[in-house]
Amino acid sequence: MSSITISQKIINPNSRKKVVWDVLVLVLTIFATVYIPFAIVSGISGSKLFQVLNLLISIIFFLDILVEFRTGFYEQREFITGKNRIIKNYLKHRFALDLIAILPIASISTLFLSYENRHFAVYFTLLRLVKLFRVKKTISRIRNNKHINPSFIRMGLLSFWILISAHLISCAWMAVWDDPALLNPINAAHPYLRAFYWTMTTLTTIGYGDITPNTSLETLFVIIVELIGAGMYGFIIGNIANIIANIDVAKSQYQEKMEKVTTFLRYKNIPLDLKTKIIDYYDYLWESRRGYNEASILEDLPKPLQTSVALFLNQSIIQKVPIFQGASEEFIKEIILNLKPVVFTPGDYIVVKGEIGYEMYFISKGLVDVVSEDDSLVYATLGTGSFFGEIALLLSVPRNASIKAREYCDCYSLDKETFERVLIRFPRFAKRIREMAEKRQEETAQKQSKRKEVAEKLRNKAEEENKTEDDNTTEEEDKEKETE
Ligand code: CMP
Repeated sequence: MSSITISQKIINPNSRKKVVWDVLVLVLTIFATVYIPFAIVSGISGSKLFQVLNLLISIIFFLDILVEFRTGFYEQREFITGKNRIIKNYLKHRFALDLIAILPIASISTLFLSYENRHFAVYFTLLRLVKLFRVKKTISRIRNNKHINPSFIRMGLLSFWILISAHLISCAWMAVWDDPALLNPINAAHPYLRAFYWTMTTLTTIGYGDITPNTSLETLFVIIVELIGAGMYGFIIGNIANIIANIDVAKSQYQEKMEKVTTFLRYKNIPLDLKTKIIDYYDYLWESRRGYNEASILEDLPKPLQTSVALFLNQSIIQKVPIFQGASEEFIKEIILNLKPVVFTPGDYIVVKGEIGYEMYFISKGLVDVVSEDDSLVYATLGTGSFFGEIALLLSVPRNASIKAREYCDCYSLDKETFERVLIRFPRFAKRIREMAEKRQEETAQKQSKRKEVAEKLRNKAEEENKTEDDNTTEEEDKEKETE
């Protein structure tokens, strides 16, 4: 989503300036929510400070309405900038609440209240708090801009609502409570603090019973708060457990998988060294890719998005493999979309001499040895950026050597079908890979024949030695016979 202001007059809701403004309104709303009820129940609502702050809050909230009339909105991903549609949308959704928050209902109500009841008028200032309903929207805009973990936002919002509810209940309790401590100077804590303490002990269902209701109104109030507390307690515990489990979904899924795997290994009595190898493999997957399986995540995306993500994820392998350097975009796309990540553990035979080949591999990280069938001769060692397994695909012959992983190897496999298609479509790549394959075949053949030569020489030498030994023994036997 673009954060640019599309038209000069219309504000983009995701632009930096709009988010800053929303944060300012949010801070002011929170301040109003904390300050106004407190000021009313503490009897300081008649002060000059309260009047000034109240006026300031009204002005900012009024300016916010003007800003909202100029803020475009998104409808099914389309940014709407038409003035009439913006006004209609705002009037339909949020205008009523924003209007209630700025109207001087408190002042107007004094006209209708009798003189003795006029002090109740200040309670209408509490209507400014309806602005609190905007909190969620503002937070989600901040989240869009900052990409914060949703679990942290949920945790923050939950704590926020708990504290705000506790504050409002404390203020309401102060309003209905005939605090006996006011007559008893020994209890020096501020009445608000005592009210907040009572709220917390009641909401959390601790209820020490040191502050108890006396009048009917107080008793009724306590019953309601107790009911809210019981419901809230379960809600909070459930939510926190859920949020904590979701903070790191990848980790909890990985732990769950590990538990299943280890239980299975134990149940099937898998030998210790194999067990260690399997657990080691999962550890490696976790360290190298947080346990995610790229392919399964890509599967859910539409094709064009798959291409973009695959291009991004696999760009490092393209940079690492020398034969891909300077290749056309079309070629890279074709290859990248068909590469599949695979991991091999130390000692694994990735390719076995004599078998039929169905894929070739590119090494993204790690070392492999190209070895003879019996593992006794190492033809070459290949590392990051190298490839192997191309000969069997090119010539449709059995594998001409075995490939053994020396350490953990992150590879990408390319299937035979794609490989053949790429060879036909991109002759330059075909030529380079053929040259490389020929060179490798020659090298391997040379090493094999050299080895054969050495083996033959050794065999001949051994035979000669045996022969001379045999000759010597017959000569000695003849001599012995003669002396006899
Ligand atoms: P392939 O025959 O399909 O399977 C074994 C692979 O080992 C082979 O393809 C080559 O990719 C690789 N290989 C064989 N000989 C050499 C060599 N001398 N140097 C590097 N790689 C080799």
